[in-house]
Amino acid sequence: MGYIDVNSVSYGLPDGRVLLDEISFRVGEGAKAALIGANGSGKTTLLRIIAGDLAAHGGAVSRGGSLGIMRQFIAREGDQVRDLLLSVADPRIRRAAAAVDAAEAAMESSGDTKAQMAYAAALADWGDAGGYDAEVLWDVCTTEALGMPFDRCGQRAVDSLSGGEQKRLVLETLLRGPDQVLMLDEPDNYLDVPSKRWLEERLLETPKTVLYISHDRELLARTAKSIITVELGAAGNTAWVHPAGFGSYHQARADRFERFDEMRNRWDEERAKLKALVQMYKQKASYNSDMASRYRSA
Ligand SMILES: Nc1ncnc2c1ncn2[C@@H]1O[C@H](COP(=O)(O)OP(=O)(O)OP(=O)(O)O)[C@@H](O)[C@H]1O
Ligand SMILES: [Mg+2]
Repeated sequence: MGYIDVNSVSYGLPDGRVLLDEISFRVGEGAKAALIGANGSGKTTLLRIIAGDLAAHGGAVSRGGSLGIMRQFIAREGDQVRDLLLSVADPRIRRAAAAVDAAEAAMESSGDTKAQMAYAAALADWGDAGGYDAEVLWDVCTTEALGMPFDRCGQRAVDSLSGGEQKRLVLETLLRGPDQVLMLDEPDNYLDVPSKRWLEERLLETPKTVLYISHDRELLARTAKSIITVELGAAGNTAWVHPAGFGSYHQARADRFERFDEMRNRWDEERAKLKALVQMYKQKASYNSDMASRYRSA
C-alpha cells in the first residue's frame, strides 16, 4: 500500500534558523497531492526528509510502498544517460550496476580467469537484482522520450540532452516503473506545452500515490486533488492542507487569512480588556496602599 505520513516534522538549518516547524500531512493510497510554497520555503528540504536523505530534528515520517524520486536537479556533471536512469532505479539495481562496472574494469585491466569469473558473477547478480527487466523498461522509455533505443543512447552524456528531454526521460521511467509512491520535485520545469499536457495526462491516469512540487498553476489546476502549502509561521514555516483541487484553493486561502484576522481581532480585544483590568487593579492597589499608610500614620 502506497502512502506518505508526515507527523510534526521540524527541521533547523545549520545557521540555527528553524526552516520547518511541526509539519503534518498525509498522502493516502493513490492520492495526487501538490506541495506548493514560495522559493526557499523548504519544499525540497521536506521531500529530502521524507526520502530519508536528511534526518528531521523533530517528528516522524512513515511511508508505505516503494518510493521513486525525481529530484529538483537531476543530472550530475559527467553522467551518461545510463547513470541518469540508474539514479532513479531501485537501490539494488544501482548496487548491482556498480558491481558490474567494477568487475568489467578489473577484467579489462587484468584479463585473468579470476577477473572473468568475477565479471560473470556480477552479471548474474545484475540479472537477480532485476537489471535486465530494468533495461527493457529503459528501452521503452528512451524510445518514448528521446526517439531512440537504449543501446543507442545509454552511453550518451546526460548534458547533451536538453533539460526537457532529461525530465521527460526520468518521468517516463518513474511513471512506467514499479514504484508505488512517487515524489516529483518540479517535474514540469523545462517541459514545453505538449510535454506538460503529457505529464498532466500521465498524472491523472496513474494509480500510483504521487506527491509533487510545482509552481505551475495549470498543472496544479488539472491534476492536484489536494494541496499542501508551506507557509511562513511564527517559529519557522508550517504547512496547511487544502483537501480539494486548485479551483477552490484561493478562496480557501482567503478564508484562512480571514480566520487569522478574526483571531487577531479577538486577541487584540482580549488584550485591551486585560490591559484595562490590570490598570484598574493597579489603581485599586495604589489607592489601598495610600489608605493603609494613612491608617498607619493616624
Ligand atoms: N545546508 C544548508 N545550509 C543553509 N541553508 C540551507 C541549507 N539547505 C537549505 N537551506 C536553505 O533552506 C531554504 C529552503 O530550501 P529548499 O531548497 O528546501 O527550498 P524550496 O522551497 O525547495 O525552494 P524552490 O522553490 O526555490 O525550489 C533556502 O533558503 C535554502 O537556502
Ligand atoms: Mg526546491
